[in-house]
Amino acid sequence: MIKYNIAVIVGSLRKDSFNRKLANAIVKLGPSDFTFKQVQIGDLPLYNQDDDANQADSVKRLKNEIKAAQGLLFVTPEYNRSMPGVLKNAIDHASRPYGQSVWAGKPAGVLGASIGVIGTALSQQHLRNVLAYLDVPTLGQPEVFIQVKDGLFDEAGNIGADSKQFLQNWMDRYVAWVKKHAA
Ligand SMILES: Cc1cc2nc3c(=O)[nH]c(=O)nc-3n(C[C@H](O)[C@H](O)[C@H](O)COP(=O)(O)O)c2cc1C
Repeated sequence: MIKYNIAVIVGSLRKDSFNRKLANAIVKLGPSDFTFKQVQIGDLPLYNQDDDANQADSVKRLKNEIKAAQGLLFVTPEYNRSMPGVLKNAIDHASRPYGQSVWAGKPAGVLGASIGVIGTALSQQHLRNVLAYLDVPTLGQPEVFIQVKDGLFDEAGNIGADSKQFLQNWMDRYVAWVKKHAA
């Protein structure tokens, strides 16, 4: 059986991040031939083009993890109507040096949860623009804009009953789409 490794990139460094909880919960809806691994972005230096010829070990690690993945899953908050700087920093790092981006061609899912009513819609839209430039195809539908409310997660940290069917459908579509890209 072919195995698919998915690199999960969470756009929040917060200890009790809703988006990390969402990432941890949604991967449990994936099939047994998919392995999801969160990549660290909190220890990356601030991107500085002067360092392109001598990338930090944490940057090399990130790039190797993206290279080894057959797909990407971004789960991000919205900060001031865009993606958090830590996420953009990670994307910039792994796009460089020029000509050595590791992003191109990796199919990506984009999800997000926020306390606001638009549920990260604008953050996701900005992220999709950046990913389009980097030649990362993104799953267009279904879109997932989650407003955090009581019951989103159950006591064990799984997706709560009200959202489970919707997110299982998203996962099924994502899985089929990653397989199509790998074929
Ligand atoms: C710097 C900053 C900017 C924010 N801007 C937005 C925003 O534009 N839209 C929104 O819905 N929530 C915004 N929020 C609130 C976040 O939705 C909330 O903090 C959320 O818990 C962040 O995700 P996390 O729990 O995964 O860290 C902002 C929070 C911070 C700290």
